[in-house]
Amino acid sequence: MSKVTVVGAGNVGATCTNVLLFNEVADQVVMLDVKEGLSEGKALDMLQTASLLGFDSKIVGCTNDYAQTADSDVVVITSGIPRKPGMTREELIGVNAGIVKSVAENILKFSPKAIIVVVSNPMDTMTYLALKTTGLPKNKIIGMGGTLDSSRFKCYLSKALNANPTEVEGLVIGGHGDTTMIPLTRFATYKGRPVTDILGKATLDKVVADTMVGGATLTSLLGTSAWYAPGAAAAYLVESIIHDQKKIIPCCVSLEGEYGQNNICIGVPVVIGKNGVEEIIDYKLNAEENALFEKSAAVVRGTNDVLNDIKVL
Ligand code: 2OP
Repeated sequence: MSKVTVVGAGNVGATCTNVLLFNEVADQVVMLDVKEGLSEGKALDMLQTASLLGFDSKIVGCTNDYAQTADSDVVVITSGIPRKPGMTREELIGVNAGIVKSVAENILKFSPKAIIVVVSNPMDTMTYLALKTTGLPKNKIIGMGGTLDSSRFKCYLSKALNANPTEVEGLVIGGHGDTTMIPLTRFATYKGRPVTDILGKATLDKVVADTMVGGATLTSLLGTSAWYAPGAAAAYLVESIIHDQKKIIPCCVSLEGEYGQNNICIGVPVVIGKNGVEEIIDYKLNAEENALFEKSAAVVRGTNDVLNDIKVL
């Protein structure tokens, strides 16, 4: 029996749960929140869509009862506060670090074998924190950022190409920040053709810029951060793990020499399967891409250092 827990029944956690149920990714999904009744209510609401949408996964909602999450195969951590218009993801660290640390510790008590997918922001630093706090092997800690950023990149590319998004490929690596993500236009394709052969530089530059502020654009439209694509991105990762799909997914993982980095969690292309991180793929960056990656890693490291300053690590 496969079991997935989603911690946090806010917009992102509930959307992730909904996508997991709709796609029948696991036999059972547990949604847990600190707010009394929220998970139970949303779980019951989702259960009432079962006959309409045609799924039969089990769904359980609970308030802070980690015993219900026992023996989960995968746990998605969405807990924490979202950003408000004008805020960066990094500004959330003070509040979210304490929350993510305590959630990770509680999860581990009941699901020592779980693979953890981190969604909370600042995502790269929260992934690093989860790795250090749990002491789990590096294949079991995955941050969701690049999965979402790549889906935004493909969205803006498909608009520029006037193409079906499912026929467009694109990867975003680096940190999950407005200035740290790196959409790799050189590797982006439309039905196998490099997009650099189809779109002009000005158009591609705009696609890259729009992708990088993809989250901020939504935050200013919505007054809070986005949830449909973040929730679906987390579910996409979970599905590749539970069904051992071995998809290559850009996501945030611990690097030990790969891409020239050590002691950091940051976005790179990864084969995701039943063991979590199965292989980090080396895309052989050129000098310009490498320089961007190094700059991005330096910024992520700076945010990681705050964990020491605020004494969470
Ligand atoms: C985003 O980019 C919430 O970080 C997430 O929308």
